Amino acid sequence: MASAPRPLVAGNWKMNGLKGSVGELSKIMSGCGELSRKADLMICPPTTLIAAFADAARGSQLQIGAQDCHAEPSGAFTGDVSAEMLADAGASAVIVGHSERRTLHNETDAQVRAKALAARRAGLIAIVCIGETRAEREAGQTLAVVGRQLEGSLPEGASGDNLVVAYEPVWAIGTGLTPTVDDVSKVHALIRQILVRNLGLTGDVTRIIYGGSVKPANATELLGIANVNGALIGGASLKAADFLGIAGVYGA
Ligand code: 13P
Repeated sequence: MASAPRPLVAGNWKMNGLKGSVGELSKIMSGCGELSRKADLMICPPTTLIAAFADAARGSQLQIGAQDCHAEPSGAFTGDVSAEMLADAGASAVIVGHSERRTLHNETDAQVRAKALAARRAGLIAIVCIGETRAEREAGQTLAVVGRQLEGSLPEGASGDNLVVAYEPVWAIGTGLTPTVDDVSKVHALIRQILVRNLGLTGDVTRIIYGGSVKPANATELLGIANVNGALIGGASLKAADFLGIAGVYGA
């Protein structure tokens, strides 16, 4: 069995943050040094802040990611941003297929897959999000939904170096609710199985991170589950103390 992949603790700031937020970023960076020996640390600010954050974080252990990209490298797509542009602005990763985009922008697995391919083309890590809704969970379809989304969103040529899978149960996002240890462990085991079946050996070292109401108070339990290789944090990543408190699980 391959050794566990290096964990990734990533903060998704969603549509939050103005130029003045660089102060909070500095606080995060100042706590990153020690922690980064055990885990990769990343903040994904809104697009408007990527270049400023990437400049501020240069030379530090903090990586800067983006929250979405268009599948094409350039063209007549008013308001969209390509993976190449994000890389040019200083991002090293991009989240694709977040449930807020799947729900509010009707993104399909095929579109998510195309965006993940675009990320690879631009040299970015694709953080591919999957997760079931409350109704799907209550209908006992969690594993079927997660499996179908992953198979449909997995880009060709994916490897542990260019792909991260984020399991984010939709009903756990921003609600304070979290799945049980047993639930998370079953879903992450299924994701691992699918990754190994599709990617071979590199599927064993591809990071599978958990997202949905991760807080300092539940991080030890959630991040200690087998096949949980880090976290994708929404609300709690906006405060340096909370983000560092969660990442601190790996420094303990
Ligand atoms: P919360 O941590 O606020 O629940 O958000 C999770 C999320 O959607 C991260 O992408």
